Amino acid sequence: MNRFVYDIPTKVYFGENHLKKLGSEVSQYGKKVLLTYGGGSIKKSGLYDKVIAELEKAGLEIFELAGIDPNPRVTSVTEGAEICKREGIDVLLAVGGGSVIDCTKFIGAAAFYDGDAWDISIGKAPVEKCLPIISVLTLSATGSEMDAMGVISNLETKEKVGMGSPLMQPKVSFLDPTTTYTVSKFQTACGAADMLNHIMEIYFNRENDLFMLDRVMEGLMKTIIQYGPIAMAEPNNYEARANLMWTSSWAINGFLKGSKRQAWTCHPIEHELSAYYDITHGLGLAIIAPRWLTYTLDEDNVSKFYDFGVNVFDIDKSLEPMVVAKQSIEKLEDFLFNTLELQSTLTEIGIDETHFEIMAKKACQDGVLEGFKPLRAEDIVNIFKMCL
Ligand code: NZQ
Ligand code: ZN
Repeated sequence: MNRFVYDIPTKVYFGENHLKKLGSEVSQYGKKVLLTYGGGSIKKSGLYDKVIAELEKAGLEIFELAGIDPNPRVTSVTEGAEICKREGIDVLLAVGGGSVIDCTKFIGAAAFYDGDAWDISIGKAPVEKCLPIISVLTLSATGSEMDAMGVISNLETKEKVGMGSPLMQPKVSFLDPTTTYTVSKFQTACGAADMLNHIMEIYFNRENDLFMLDRVMEGLMKTIIQYGPIAMAEPNNYEARANLMWTSSWAINGFLKGSKRQAWTCHPIEHELSAYYDITHGLGLAIIAPRWLTYTLDEDNVSKFYDFGVNVFDIDKSLEPMVVAKQSIEKLEDFLFNTLELQSTLTEIGIDETHFEIMAKKACQDGVLEGFKPLRAEDIVNIFKMCL
């Protein structure tokens, strides 16, 4: 095990009926709060009214930024930062899924920057300060509620970039599984595929000395496989929604990473698909992941696939490692495309070869994507072709 620093400073309220604490948590950071949310799901579900009631009870002055899109745009960041500057906002309250929380993280940073908000997303302007962020999560997927990352899109330049700073990490997150009862079957499936991929990005690693974390990751992956389909079939199943919600946070909050230093692979590839075609993140990952594994598998790394097959998919451990490895990829495909009912090819979602070359170059920044197996642009094009 290499050296690492473990620091997860987000306070979590998990479970039902914690919202009465919202007012006091927000109040510790000031009087003026900017409430951010998406396209209206929180109004339909009644959560908006509950949040407003708690903020009013605490005597807070409320401002709003509505309409944050899935794959959030930098234009929303600019709009939010302008409100913060104009009104002297003290604290941000994001109520929604990963898109709302991510966008709010960038608003918090852009509130202290006078240039173009996109400069922050691409790291041209370092994050020196950020308004405190509190989140009320409504969709289990990205882990944004407990991590320091955000992903933002620029429609003009067809770019989608990830950036993080500890300053952007939520101070407090409210995780009530019942708020996810209204998430559609499709978004539930995409969320499951996303969190599964967050774990796989770390699990398929060239550093092999973190036995304890590997076993934790296998447990989390089994949890998604167990509860994803239950949440789809029974949207109000508390046990399923709760297991998925806590897994989404722990998949990406830094704990699993330990000292593993290798970069992620499927995510930068998927972000290009979202940037060019505005597809749902988890769906893109589901299509890419099994092809990436197939492309990556070789005699040198087969033992990792063997563990994956035996410990996650319960494949017979007496079989030859290469047989287990191939079966594990088939099991993964079966889970993603049959159990979760996600589309299995780029063709099905209207994506053809047109932008493969440019997307591949951007994904590896014209160099090498140093993942489980280093990938150059030509490798990424090959993987895209396998997804057709
Ligand atoms: O906009 P509203 O009306 O709220 O509807 C949303 C949206 O249409 C809806 N939804 C959310 N909660 C709901 C609900 N519908 C009914 N009931 C509820 N309780 O679901 C749709 C998708 O929401 P979105 O926030 O876009 O989904 P998700 O949480 O999957 O976030 C995706 C974004 O996060 C980024 C992705 O790239 C993508 O931009 N990621 C962020 C990461 C991070 N911060 O660390 C890591 C991830 O890998 C990912 O890249
Ligand atoms: Zn993801």
